[in-house]
Amino acid sequence: MKNYKILIKTDQSFYPVIIGKNILINVSSILKKNKIFFQKCLIVYDSNVPQTALNILKQKLKNKNVFVYKLKSSEKVKNINTVNKILNFTLKQKFHRTDLIISVGGGIISDIAGFVSSIYKRGINFVNMPTTLLSQVDASIGGKTGVNSTYGKNLIGSFYQPRLVLSDILFLKSLPKREIICGYAEILKHAFIRNKKKFLFLDKNLKKIFHIDEKIMSKTIYESCKIKKSIIEKDPLEKNLRRILNYGHTFGHAFEANLNYSKKLNHGEAVLLGMYCANNFAYKKNIINKNDFNIIEQHFAKFNLSNKLKRIAKRRNLSRIVNYMKSDKKNYNNKINLILLNKIGSAKINNTYKTMEIESFLNLLINR
Ligand SMILES: NC(=O)c1ccc[n+]([C@@H]2O[C@H](COP(=O)([O-])OP(=O)(O)OC[C@H]3O[C@@H](n4cnc5c(N)ncnc54)[C@H](O)[C@@H]3O)[C@@H](O)[C@H]2O)c1
Repeated sequence: MKNYKILIKTDQSFYPVIIGKNILINVSSILKKNKIFFQKCLIVYDSNVPQTALNILKQKLKNKNVFVYKLKSSEKVKNINTVNKILNFTLKQKFHRTDLIISVGGGIISDIAGFVSSIYKRGINFVNMPTTLLSQVDASIGGKTGVNSTYGKNLIGSFYQPRLVLSDILFLKSLPKREIICGYAEILKHAFIRNKKKFLFLDKNLKKIFHIDEKIMSKTIYESCKIKKSIIEKDPLEKNLRRILNYGHTFGHAFEANLNYSKKLNHGEAVLLGMYCANNFAYKKNIINKNDFNIIEQHFAKFNLSNKLKRIAKRRNLSRIVNYMKSDKKNYNNKINLILLNKIGSAKINNTYKTMEIESFLNLLINR
């Protein structure tokens, strides 16, 4: 099976994303090929990733001075204290900025390790090995790094590009199904906003994707990363176009916030529900045509979203949900801005609506 490669270009750098199988066991030669040389290496490791992967990685880097910093991934450890502890660790071990930090984990670990890398001696080499589907198609690409503050999520951070992203699909074999759904939601979003053909591929291969068929999964990740690449290269600092990546997220974040970010609803499930609502809203406003609306509805039916929405959004909570939507950072003038599809493969950014209108729409949707 062939591996895929994408080159991400930014103002400051140029780096490859390699996607496929057996990347971990070839890590040493891949690093050399990409001219990443170092004396010391710190592996920031997600403790839920099977230990065998860490053993392989340490063995492959055996001629180097390798340190491991294990973290139990959670939004609670994604904070400035953890950053400080890792910085102290690397300072104590006298890491030079030409040494290397490797992140092995999901988006939480790579956001932390990437942020540490960006500020350690004003920037140390960083290699990202994403181990969740979401981080392979989303968090590992684009250079956003950062941690949470007591004032909110992802409020402290930087833009810092890795030297290399290594997405080995074998990591996905140990991933719980709910985490696969999380990544799938972002994959689906990429196809919806940019490419109908890619959406039809997902629709046809849904079962194979969820069974982690190696060929189909590698291609799916590759195609999804290509869409994200095309968007972030046009708008690296999220000034305009990149906002379409928030499709489904305004509703989705509000559902998560309404449940206090509890495990009842994870981020990907919330985004799926958010896209389901956005599709229905776009149809109600005659923004999307009936045919495309129905095609999307049929895909969502496979996830039973209509019933899920009824379970998580109760009538008595709707005004709270809409208030969370209003506090989204994209909004102004007390109105809610939504990213909506005008057809499969194309999204429109500036659609603003009154809170009352969205609340009564949600009311109708959950009572349908
Ligand atoms: N920087 C960005 O552009 C960007 C984009 C999207 C999301 N994010 C951030 O990413 C985070 C979410 O990332 P995520 O969805 O990858 O979640 P995550 O990092 O929390 O990982 C999800 C769960 O899977 C476990 N896990 C990871 N790899 C595993 C493996 N191979 N086998 C078994 N278990 C494994 C983790 O320990 C965790 O319990 C959020 O903090 C979000 O803010 C960042």
